Amino acid sequence: MKLIEAKDYKEMSKIAADIMIKKVADNPAITLGLATGGTPLGIYSSLIDDHKENGTSYNGVTSFNLDEYAGLSGKDPNSYRSYMNENFFHHIDIQKENTFVPCGDAEDLQKACADYEALIKAHKGIDLQILGIGENGHIGFNEPGTSFDSETHVVQLTDSTRQANARYFSSLEAVPQAAVTMGIASIMKSKEILLLVSGKQKSEALKQLLNSSPDESFPASVLNKHPYVTILADKAAIAGLIVNS
Ligand code: F6R
Repeated sequence: MKLIEAKDYKEMSKIAADIMIKKVADNPAITLGLATGGTPLGIYSSLIDDHKENGTSYNGVTSFNLDEYAGLSGKDPNSYRSYMNENFFHHIDIQKENTFVPCGDAEDLQKACADYEALIKAHKGIDLQILGIGENGHIGFNEPGTSFDSETHVVQLTDSTRQANARYFSSLEAVPQAAVTMGIASIMKSKEILLLVSGKQKSEALKQLLNSSPDESFPASVLNKHPYVTILADKAAIAGLIVNS
């Protein structure tokens, strides 16, 4: 795993965006794996600025998002589909039909999971997967204990994840109890992974990731087994690591 240190969140986002812009320029038909949450917002904003200023085109790009809340339709303002539309897709020239987010309100969620996995395979997999990390080491919504063999599946969210995400909802009670997520095996099939880690609240997770061997009790540790992972972390995330180690 390669670790790149950025001065702060802004610089981290800019470096990540520049990496993505180069990948899209090199392969205009690239398949991107995208994440939601607070961490990638700066990347999306940089990519939008670049699209407007330099004309980077996403016309031939396909994207697959990591996850979606169970029970929320894509039209729900708290859905990850809405997040992606608002924060990225509506501001670039990507073809909406080439943007995929798991279906959280399918009648048959198990079938929707299998269909999503099949769709990723039909697109010959993800070329570049963007990841954030939870304080408990989750990637996607793969909580501690998730099998490393898991593909897209339904997951019950832990209290800590629901609390961390409650800031986007009217109350903690309003945060869905479950989600659909790409599995660990689905993520690991990506050809290349870029993991973003920002803020001192993530430094323990970063430390554990760098110091642990792959173990299902800490989902992100699986990344140690992937041949092409770049971790992009800001000083706040790395500082704790130096002080505590
Ligand atoms: C989001 C996702 C999650 C987040 C993680 C960190 O699609 O898959 O794993 O990346 O919860 O969230 P933030 O960035 O809000 O700290």
